[in-house]
Amino acid sequence: MHDLVTIDDFEARARERISKQAYDYFRSGADTELTLRRNVESFAHFEIVHRAFVDVAAPKLVTKILGEEYASPIAIAPTAYHLLAHEEGECGTARAAESSRTLYVASTLATTSLEDVAKAAPHAANWFQLYVHRDRSFTMRLAERAKAAGYRAIVVTADTPVLGRRVADVRNGFALPEGLAMQNLVESLPPDLDLGKGSELARYVAARHDPSFSWKDFSELVRACAPLPVVVKGIVSKEDAAHAMGAGASAIWVSNHGGRQLDFGVATIDALAGVVEEVGDRGEVYVDGGVRSGTHALIALGLGARAVFVGRPILWGLATSGAPGVSRVLEILNTELLRAMQLAGCKSAADARAIVRRRA
Ligand code: FNR
Ligand code: LAC
Repeated sequence: MHDLVTIDDFEARARERISKQAYDYFRSGADTELTLRRNVESFAHFEIVHRAFVDVAAPKLVTKILGEEYASPIAIAPTAYHLLAHEEGECGTARAAESSRTLYVASTLATTSLEDVAKAAPHAANWFQLYVHRDRSFTMRLAERAKAAGYRAIVVTADTPVLGRRVADVRNGFALPEGLAMQNLVESLPPDLDLGKGSELARYVAARHDPSFSWKDFSELVRACAPLPVVVKGIVSKEDAAHAMGAGASAIWVSNHGGRQLDFGVATIDALAGVVEEVGDRGEVYVDGGVRSGTHALIALGLGARAVFVGRPILWGLATSGAPGVSRVLEILNTELLRAMQLAGCKSAADARAIVRRRA
C-alpha cells in the first residue's frame, strides 16, 4: 500500500479491486453530480493565511466530540454496504476506527448488524445513524437496539425522505448480491416487498422511509432516544439548524449526503459558516462532503466544525485491503492535517478559526 500516497490513489486502487456495480454505487452522486463536484471544488473558495514562528513542534489533534475524546477531529461518516467493498465489511471499518481512536458512525443500512459492529470494536465510542421509517415503532426499536449495544449517540439523517437518483445504479439495476443483506432490517422486511428493477435501494427507501416526518416528530424522537444525544445529519440551512436546536438536537451535521441526494445543491463547505453562526454555543457543528485531504479538514475546522467526517475515502481504503486500508487512509488524512497545521501556524484546531477565510 505504500505506493498509495493520496486519497485519490486509494480510489484508483479500489476501482481495480471491486466490481463496476459496486464502484459505481460507492462513487455516484445524484443526477448530473453537480452537488458532488461542488462539494470537492468549493474548498477552493477558501484560503489559509498562515502565521509564522508559532511553536508548532507538537500540534494537538486530540478532540472532544459530544464529550468523548478521540485522537482526531477527522471521523468516519455512515456509509452503507461495507461487505460490498471487502469481506471484512463494517467490522473491518470498526476495528480500524477503534485502533486509531477515530469516531465511527455505523449505518442503519449496513450489511452487518449494529450489534455485531459493536462487538467488533468493544472499546470504541461509536455512534449509530438512524433512518426514520414509516413504521415508527420499528424506527424506535432500532434506536433501542443501538442504546443496548453501547452506541454513544444517535445520528438522525434528515436529507433522505426519498433516495436521490444515481444514474449508474439505475442503468446497472444495482442490487446487493446474493448473500448480502441490510442486516439491521432483515427482521422487518415484508416478505412481499417487491424491490423490482432499477436501484433496489431506491425502491427500499421509497417503500420504507417516511417522507412525512417533520420537526414535531423529531422532538418526540429526541425524547425517545434519551439519554443518548441526537445529532441531525443532512442540514445546510441556518433555518433548519435553528429548528433542530430548538427541537432538542445536541449537534448539527452539515451534509448533503455526499452529493447523492439533491442535485444543484449547495456545497457543504459553503454552507458551514452560516450554520456555525446560527448554532453558536448551543451545540456542536460537524461537516462532511468532498473532504479528500487533511488541508480540506483544516479549512472545515477553521470555519467552525468540531469534527470533519469522510465517507468515500473510507470505502476506498476498505476496498483496497480491509481494516489496514482504512487505517492507512486515516493515517494519510491525519498526517496531512498535522502538516497543514504546522505550516499554517496552528497549535490546535481552534487556532484555525483565525486564519481561514473565504477568498475575495
Ligand atoms: C453514504 N451516506 C450515507 N449517509 C447516511 O446517513 N446513511 C447511509 O447509509 C449512507 N450511505 C452512504 C453510502 C455511500 C456509498 C456514500 C458515498 C455515502 C452519506 C455519507 O454519510 C456522507 O454524508 C458522505 O459520504 C460524505 O461525503 P464524501 O466524504 O463521501 O464526499
Ligand atoms: C446511500 C444511502 C444508503 O447514499 O444513504 O446510498
